[in-house]
Amino acid sequence: MILLTGGAGYIGSHMLFELLTANYEVVVLDNLCNSNMTAINRVQQMTGKACHFVEGDIRDAGCLTDLFNQYAIDAVLHFAGLKSVGESVAQPLRYFDNNITGSLVLLKAMQSAQVKRIVFSSSATVYGDPAELPITESTPTSMPTNPYGYTKLAVEQMMMQLVDSDPSWSVAALRYFNPVGAHSSGQIGEDPKGIPNNLLPYIAQVAVGRLQQLSVFGADYNTPDGTGVRDYIHVVDLVKGHLAALTYITANLGYHIWNLGTGEGYSVLDMVRAFEKANNIDIPYKLEPRRAGDIAACYADPNKAIAELNWQAELGLEQMMADTWHWQRTNPHGYS
Ligand code: NAD
Ligand code: WQD
Repeated sequence: MILLTGGAGYIGSHMLFELLTANYEVVVLDNLCNSNMTAINRVQQMTGKACHFVEGDIRDAGCLTDLFNQYAIDAVLHFAGLKSVGESVAQPLRYFDNNITGSLVLLKAMQSAQVKRIVFSSSATVYGDPAELPITESTPTSMPTNPYGYTKLAVEQMMMQLVDSDPSWSVAALRYFNPVGAHSSGQIGEDPKGIPNNLLPYIAQVAVGRLQQLSVFGADYNTPDGTGVRDYIHVVDLVKGHLAALTYITANLGYHIWNLGTGEGYSVLDMVRAFEKANNIDIPYKLEPRRAGDIAACYADPNKAIAELNWQAELGLEQMMADTWHWQRTNPHGYS
């Protein structure tokens, strides 16, 4: 049985689909602070399979004790966390508590229950403004410029030292690049609260008429067209990487880091054009000054995951754009 924390969220719900499809038994733990039970219900309908669901908080030690007593958990896929960079700057203590304390409480409960396998949702944000491109797993991490990024680095380091002290643990830190897209059914997808911070949800809401135009943050970067370059990865590819990582850490104990990206960098204007082309919709945009804290370019060297996990992203930009639009068009107001 797999414990999936944050399984009602954007990436977690796609993970749940993959797990149920692969016949895993799953218990989801989520406090629904940034998600909707509808996502879980839809995944159960899509797969024709049921999961267990516990509404609870990863910081609640009693809830975790009960959960580990009730279910025979073999491994944990840990997605639960707060993820807004801007919000973390305004409310750092809330982010430290939720993401760092929450992960610590979870690790302690795992140790008590003798469950020592965990796959953690980390982020390429731990590389800061990267010292080299493409980014390999040996590219040095740097002190993140925002509290959100700090929480990811802190949890990675906690887990690394835990493995050092007790080699019977097996940990995967998966450093995601920029997850986008949705399941091709259009049934589950990203449903940000309020005005989206991230590029693709913003473009999708312009396309559906909820927002008027995209602000392109910065056209004077040292990149081919002056706009920021990122490595966008389809969420379905991303979650498949987790299954490969789970298999690997079961056979090879220790602390492992993998980049989950495609290796391709696309600019903001590349993304606008790709969305327009795939979906035959105009996206009005305006060039604006840079957004504070942004870097010029960030893309992965995906070769370690290819070699060790036998996993590679397969879905290209056109699919990312078509699936984003299918989800947004059929759910113009998300799950609400
Ligand atoms: P999301 O907000 O959609 O999902 C996170 C889920 O965790 C939500 O369902 C939320 O209700 C739940 N949650 C939060 N705090 C909790 C707590 N204390 N107890 C129980 N449940 C809690 O976000 P997502 O985009 O699906 O991200 C999943 C994970 O991947 C996060 O850890 C995030 O930091 C990480 N990540 C996301 C991205 C991205 O761009 N989306 C990139 C890199 C890493
Ligand atoms: C992508 C590009 C923007 C919005 C963030 C987090 C990171 C990770 C993924 C969790 C940049 C530009 C954006 C807009 C724009 N999350 N942009 N107009 O900043 O690469 O990464 O999400 O771990 O930690 O920092 O993603 O989608 O916000 O931006 O021009 O309205 O699009 O400047 O170049 P980012 P993003």
